[in-house]
Amino acid sequence: MSKKPKAVATMKQLISHLLGFCWLVCFTGTQCFTSDDDMCQYSTTCPSFATCENITTGYHCTCKRGYISSSLEEHFTNPAVKCVVDRCQDSSTCPAFATCENVAGGYHCTCKRGFASSSGKQNFTDPTVKCIDVNECSQDPPVCGPHNQCNNTRGSFTCQCSPGYSSPSGTSWKPGDSHTLDCTENLISCQPRILQRDDFKSLCGNSTQHGNQQNNRFCTFLNETSKTLESACGNGNQSISLKEVSTSIDLLFYATAQQSNGSKEEVALVATIFLQSVESAALATARKSPGNKTQTITGETMTIVAQRVTDNCSRAGKMIELNAENELMSIDCMTVVGAREQGSGVVAFISYATLESILNNNFIDQQNLREDVKLGSTMLNSKVVSGTIGKPGPLSKPFNFTLEHKQKKEMEDKIICVFWNLTGPWFTEGCRLLRENSTHTTCTCNHLSSFAILMASHAIKAVL
Ligand SMILES: *[C@@H]1O[C@H](CO)[C@@H](O)[C@H](O)[C@H]1NC(C)=O
Ligand SMILES: *[C@@H]1O[C@H](CO)[C@@H](O)[C@H](O)[C@H]1NC(C)=O
Ligand SMILES: *[C@@H]1O[C@H](CO)[C@@H](O)[C@H](O)[C@H]1NC(C)=O
Ligand SMILES: *[C@@H]1O[C@H](CO)[C@@H](O)[C@H](O)[C@H]1NC(C)=O
Ligand SMILES: *[C@@H]1O[C@H](CO)[C@@H](O)[C@H](O)[C@H]1NC(C)=O
Ligand SMILES: *[C@@H]1O[C@H](CO)[C@@H](O)[C@H](O)[C@H]1NC(C)=O
Ligand SMILES: *[C@@H]1O[C@H](CO)[C@@H](O)[C@H](O)[C@H]1NC(C)=O
Ligand SMILES: *[C@@H]1O[C@H](CO)[C@@H](O)[C@H](O)[C@H]1NC(C)=O
Ligand SMILES: *[C@@H]1O[C@H](CO)[C@@H](O)[C@H](O)[C@H]1NC(C)=O
Ligand SMILES: *[C@@H]1O[C@H](CO)[C@@H](O)[C@H](O)[C@H]1NC(C)=O
Ligand SMILES: *[C@@H]1O[C@H](CO)[C@@H](O)[C@H](O)[C@H]1NC(C)=O
Ligand SMILES: *[C@@H]1O[C@H](CO)[C@@H](O)[C@H](O)[C@H]1NC(C)=O
Repeated sequence: MSKKPKAVATMKQLISHLLGFCWLVCFTGTQCFTSDDDMCQYSTTCPSFATCENITTGYHCTCKRGYISSSLEEHFTNPAVKCVVDRCQDSSTCPAFATCENVAGGYHCTCKRGFASSSGKQNFTDPTVKCIDVNECSQDPPVCGPHNQCNNTRGSFTCQCSPGYSSPSGTSWKPGDSHTLDCTENLISCQPRILQRDDFKSLCGNSTQHGNQQNNRFCTFLNETSKTLESACGNGNQSISLKEVSTSIDLLFYATAQQSNGSKEEVALVATIFLQSVESAALATARKSPGNKTQTITGETMTIVAQRVTDNCSRAGKMIELNAENELMSIDCMTVVGAREQGSGVVAFISYATLESILNNNFIDQQNLREDVKLGSTMLNSKVVSGTIGKPGPLSKPFNFTLEHKQKKEMEDKIICVFWNLTGPWFTEGCRLLRENSTHTTCTCNHLSSFAILMASHAIKAVL
């Protein structure tokens, strides 16, 4: 009997204790306790699989590792929130190549980018559904740019330039790469197919079986060496080193020029093949070079300066100036880029060390010269240079070049700006003298080709 009153007293104490603390807040519902109370001492404050934590504003519950709150909140106080097993913690919940995501009241799987679910549903929980690679390469419109080969990979794809094309920014591209793949055609004309050339055919005929004996030997030689030239230039699917190419072309050229023993047509033909080969090799180099920077390649017999213009000429009237061993070329940027192009283009300028000794006075046709210089004795008085932008035809604006004289010009000497007509000899059409002094001449021409300075020396004539 003595125990009962004590129990009642304890109960009374408890009730008064509870009321004393929380009669006020219980009316407000969830916030049943004052902030200075230690709520975490009650095991029922937080649900199963949760830990309780004192914080400055009171407390909060946090689901234990492996569990996630049904409200998806990291911390919560709402007594309705439960801690449920985090299915996404288990890597076997979703199939390969899927991501798992907890959503209110559950979870779902979603195939990663580059994959599609076998059920066709974006979000799924069905354990039999798989994520299958999407073949981006068969999509329309194509995911890769023009002149690209698409290679489907698991979850992604790569783009590569097609054979015969290359990009200065790299060899391939995949989603996420910051660079772009700009595939431009490799210079396949680096190997001018000698045997198919009209000038070769007209000189040698279709077969070396015909023609006179002199030509026969020359034609056989060219026939044989054309293979060397073609292999030196590569066949468009391999990257070519300009230095290698120019060395091979050089050797071939000088060997051929010697072989031909000075027959004008033969030398002119070989020279033309030579000039065109070097030009296309130089352009190929320019296309592969980083934007804006000039690349200079100096060899024993030539110096090549090549540039790729990428800045859309940045301003109107911008000139591109190239210097090859102090021979200069200046061309309007817009001429290089071309009005309809996407702001880029290539230009190359080549200075030949000794070519003028081969394309010499034999190739000056007095008939082509102006009346006032015809009487003089003419000579090639500069190095031979070539300029090219890889496009045929007349230029939208003329370009200028400045060459150093081999021999000092005297007052009475006449200067003539000439270009190498593909079939030779030196021609003057489209070129004219801009300015001259005793050591240099600046010419302007409305087309690109190979150029030199002729000097008609009246002094020599007078002596003779
Ligand atoms: C929570 O805070 C109260 C006082 O504010 C303190 O008595 C109690 O020990 C704390 N509990 C924990 C688990 O830190
Ligand atoms: C799939 O779930 C995401 C959220 O995880 C949602 O944004 C999307 O709308 C859902 N897609 C479908 C088709 O229900
Ligand atoms: C496609 O890409 C894969 C992986 O990068 C590579 O192994 C394969 O050789 C590529 N195939 C082609 C045709 O480029
Ligand atoms: C070369 O052969 C073709 C036919 O194969 C013929 O049409 C052409 O006239 C020939 N040219 C010369 C220069 O013999
Ligand atoms: C080139 O040489 C081959 C033999 O090596 C011969 O069959 C062919 O007729 C020659 N072609 C010309 C155009 O000379
Ligand atoms: C491409 O170059 C390789 C050697 O690098 C050669 O074996 C192959 O025949 C070339 N392909 C074509 C189409 O020229
Ligand atoms: C050029 O001349 C040399 C000797 O002077 C001779 O051996 C060679 O066969 C000649 N070449 C041709 C193509 O006639
Ligand atoms: C080329 O120069 C222009 C400015 O002159 C610049 O905007 C552009 O990024 C440059 N391009 C490269 C590839 O360096
Ligand atoms: C060529 O020179 C003339 C005269 O000096 C000048 O007006 C013109 O702009 C120059 N052109 C180029 C492309 O440099
Ligand atoms: C290049 O400049 C021209 C004319 O200034 C303009 O029409 C064109 O859109 C530009 N192209 C790029 C790629 O900026
Ligand atoms: C090149 O020479 C040929 C004849 O040899 C001539 O018909 C042609 O007009 C010349 N080309 C130029 C651009 O003067
Ligand atoms: C001749 O002109 C060139 C540039 O056109 C210049 O560099 C050189 O100094 C000039 N020489 C003389 C002697 O005036």
